[in-house]
Amino acid sequence: MMRHLALLAVLSAGSLAAPLLRGTPGTLKEAFAPHFHVGAALNTEILTVADHPARALVTRHFSSITAANAMKWGPFNPEPGVYVTEPADALLTLAEAHGMQVIGHTLFWHQQTPRWVFQDVQGGPISREALLERMRERVRLLAKRYGERVHLWDVVNEAIEDDGSLRKSAWHRILGADFVPEAFRIAGEELPASVQLIYNDYSMFLPGRRDAVVTMVRDLQARGLRIDGVGMQGHWGLDFPRIEDAEAAIVAFAATGVRVHITELDVDVLPRSPDMFGADLNKRAQISPENNPYTDGLPTEIQEKLARRYAEIFALFVRHADKIDRVTFWGVTDGDSWLNGFPVRGRTNHPLLFDRANQPKPALEAVIGVAAGK
Ligand code: XIL
Repeated sequence: MMRHLALLAVLSAGSLAAPLLRGTPGTLKEAFAPHFHVGAALNTEILTVADHPARALVTRHFSSITAANAMKWGPFNPEPGVYVTEPADALLTLAEAHGMQVIGHTLFWHQQTPRWVFQDVQGGPISREALLERMRERVRLLAKRYGERVHLWDVVNEAIEDDGSLRKSAWHRILGADFVPEAFRIAGEELPASVQLIYNDYSMFLPGRRDAVVTMVRDLQARGLRIDGVGMQGHWGLDFPRIEDAEAAIVAFAATGVRVHITELDVDVLPRSPDMFGADLNKRAQISPENNPYTDGLPTEIQEKLARRYAEIFALFVRHADKIDRVTFWGVTDGDSWLNGFPVRGRTNHPLLFDRANQPKPALEAVIGVAAGK
């Protein structure tokens, strides 16, 4: 009888406590601490407005932060000799005040790189040697300014096409097939040895890109160049990609001996034609009522679908936690997500774990539930 009463007491304490706990199911960083870092990309507003409401979520839930734009070549160094360092410095200050890992995104990309980088003073095409020197100058300056305080750099972003061929970018036009190896050579020589060097790309579940990335990693290794990890961006949808295709990519990258990072996770809930998947910034469409259906909020049914989708995605990551170092969301709240502007400008998207009022969505509870083995 006594035992029975004690059990009753525990049960009623539990049910009393339950409503208090609702909406605060713990924190992402604590829940996944045994498995991997959980990170967020921060836009320039969150970085520079000290009392920005999303800041409280950042420091509570995340153990790793990335600048969504501030460290890219264009925003950081828009004109020769002109450096905009405040938002990038703010990333370091915030991270160091809260013991968070700092991700450098990104050294070399075909987007958000100023045209002058590829031109000589007369505006003509720059030589191969001059471009390599300019790349080295960028890395040297970043190494001097931030050194080991940036723990990991996305050295090259998006150099491979869906079919596995090399992207025909300005980098490729001038450096050809040497672009990626030269980028890793420069990063390896200029950055401190403790800084991890990553290759990052989208739609890594496509066999063409996946296999080309595996070949590229092995090629870098064969040349004696250091590469520590592969970043799978993870701009995914409610039904896309299939979990087994994402899984095959995680397994294939880890088999080369590097670590896997999920670098830009979000789950688009809005309609997209299949060719709009991935994150090719050149692909855009016009807004219409059909492709922007959730301007007044997410219907319960879709909200639950999103939670279930996030749960299956995190179940995959936990199954491969021995290979994965970090899972970073590309944004903090739905309001700051880049998916409100891509691939269609001006839509109302709902791809993250926190809503526009900075409140946790059912998907947060679902994700934390996965860590707890629920
Ligand atoms: C996005 C930023 O979030 C936007 O603010 C910017 O306008 C465009 O770039 N892949 C990447 C990221 O590697 O750098 C991109 O970030 C999203 C796609």
